[in-house]
Amino acid sequence: MLIAQLTDTHIRPEGARAYGRVDTARHMEAAVAHLLALDPRPDVVVVTGDLTDFDLPEEYARFRALAAPLPMPVLPIPGNHDSSAGLLAAFPEVAARTDGTRANYVEDGFALRLVMLDTSVASAPHGELGAAGLAFLDAALAQAPDRPTLICGHHPPFLTGIAHMDAQNLRDGAALEAIIRRHPQVVGLVCGHVHRAITTTFAGIAATIAPAPAHVVSLDLSPDGPATFHMEPPALALHLWTGGRLVSHVSQIGAYPGPFPFFDDAGRAIVAVA
Ligand SMILES: [Fe+2]
Repeated sequence: MLIAQLTDTHIRPEGARAYGRVDTARHMEAAVAHLLALDPRPDVVVVTGDLTDFDLPEEYARFRALAAPLPMPVLPIPGNHDSSAGLLAAFPEVAARTDGTRANYVEDGFALRLVMLDTSVASAPHGELGAAGLAFLDAALAQAPDRPTLICGHHPPFLTGIAHMDAQNLRDGAALEAIIRRHPQVVGLVCGHVHRAITTTFAGIAATIAPAPAHVVSLDLSPDGPATFHMEPPALALHLWTGGRLVSHVSQIGAYPGPFPFFDDAGRAIVAVA
């Protein structure tokens, strides 16, 4: 099973750019073309928040139009730039899988079970599952203790060293950790929010932040680093469930030189390379 993780697309209305600079729709177009060109194609695309920049209906509509060529299920959850209400209104088919107020739901149709978590807090940049979100997760995991499960959310529950982003991370990470530790079938936790590929462990499992298809938060590990972004090579994450492990790749979007064959000094093709 191959899971693509597209995150932090920050779509703006037609004619507008994110922060007056980034043509996020063009970047998402490239990301969608990239996904369509993959062989094998991902079975599912999880979209871990900040679909929009300002939670506007026209931004969700534009996101949907840009995602429309994708033939596989696209599973969104809100980030801090979105809202639960805005996302559920824009995706009625997702709303139908939830309690109608928070975008917490389970995708059970694949080898790896996906638990999609809504970490957004209305009108606030930080994340929080809250009592209801934590209870949802605990109950969802209790329902299928023998099914390997991946948890997807927007806000990371761990520090990254990028101080202005860490100030916005998941506030109830300790409670999340306690739940994951009670359910050993959880194989990984994937997040968005920081727009950079970041890897650590959390609750004894792999925890990753996926890179973004457009602007990235500047890599500044000084405690008083300013909130800025850079335009680095756009990317998305590919999570391969194979051999009982979750293997996470960064897939760069765009045209790069290659593929080139490997040759030895005598000009003979090397068939098996490491
Ligand atoms: Fe974002």
